[in-house]
Amino acid sequence: MILNPVLDEIMGEQSFSYIAKAKAIEREKGIRVISFGVGQPDFDTPSHIKEAAKRALDEGFTGYTETPGILELRQAIADYLNERYGAGVGPDNIMVTTGGKTALFLAIAATVKRGSEVIIPEPSYYAYAQVAKIFGAKPVYVPLRWSRERGFEIDLDPILEKITPNTTAIILNNPSNPTGALFSKEQVRRLYDEAASRGIAVVADEVYDNFVYDGEFYSVTSIDGWMENAVLAHSFSKTFAMTGWRLGFVAADRRVVDKLFSLAVSIYSCATSFAQKAGVAALKGDWEPVRRMIAEFNERRKLMYDLLNKVPGFEPNMPGGAFYMFPRVRKALDMLGMDVVEFVETLLAEKGVLILPGSSFPDKTGRDFVRISYASSREDIIEGMNRLREFVEERAR
Ligand SMILES: Cc1ncc(COP(=O)(O)O)c(C=O)c1O
Repeated sequence: MILNPVLDEIMGEQSFSYIAKAKAIEREKGIRVISFGVGQPDFDTPSHIKEAAKRALDEGFTGYTETPGILELRQAIADYLNERYGAGVGPDNIMVTTGGKTALFLAIAATVKRGSEVIIPEPSYYAYAQVAKIFGAKPVYVPLRWSRERGFEIDLDPILEKITPNTTAIILNNPSNPTGALFSKEQVRRLYDEAASRGIAVVADEVYDNFVYDGEFYSVTSIDGWMENAVLAHSFSKTFAMTGWRLGFVAADRRVVDKLFSLAVSIYSCATSFAQKAGVAALKGDWEPVRRMIAEFNERRKLMYDLLNKVPGFEPNMPGGAFYMFPRVRKALDMLGMDVVEFVETLLAEKGVLILPGSSFPDKTGRDFVRISYASSREDIIEGMNRLREFVEERAR
């Protein structure tokens, strides 16, 4: 049989393959691997959310739902976006999806065409480019600007230089995975305005909108008339520690949501019925567990930053959002004579510490960086960062 050649162009999510490698090392060597590889909160889903799902199951709410999602959930999502950001949306602007990834899939599907170009500021979450390729569009990477003091920032000029008549979309992931960057209101606004003035869509991935520590998060949905030129992809996964529930959403102009209906129904029919009820409880219920989790992440962020500063050749900056450190490690790599993949794999094999090579986050900038998630206990952060420091010190001799 003939297989679709596009499948060969698609890159997988490397955090998943490194987790498999870490498990193999635990089995072979009998050591406990401390993992900073995974992009999910180490917290359980708050109990009132689980209760809502259990109730839905007990009440027999187990069939298909409407494809865009149950009205109660779409209303709750609209209320969230309106109350937080003044988004001016109603239930008809919402398409509930099976997680943030499906939301991205739909958002990118809506804004590209065969032969078009999608600008992706990099280092970037890997999935954007894959979806673009699936639809025959070309990912065009543009580096973010990095400095030790300010971390990663949007550099507008090189983005504008890469715009061609074929450009149909620009990705804006804020706060950002893998860098943890929180882009300023000014940067977001200017990027949106430049895109909008050229009729280019902004695909805004705001799945970390609650993971904000320093400064203020500025949502694309705060911009007047944002739906004319932007599509929002969002998720319950991170905020409510619901990664396994697979619940997310797209928010967009009604015209876009209506057009996405046939694609969504052809892929997944609807999001899981009882997960949708849980989503209502998440948005409308007690936010205290979320606040506690974010406060804990903030403490870990500071702890990890201090510890990373003690690792020779590591240049961390203090990221304002998400739950990742993305230190520059070029000096350490040069001292050790390794590239970033060799560094990460040797560290895992010898010290049982899993971090991800920045090269997993296309395109090129990541070769000088590593991603370290601080969604791990403080004890593990202390132990893991000690092992990392020892590794660099021993090898650098
Ligand atoms: C930036 C970003 N967007 C989207 C997703 C996907 O979210 P979900 O797990 O809800 O599919 C992730 C998950 O890691 C992410 O980091």
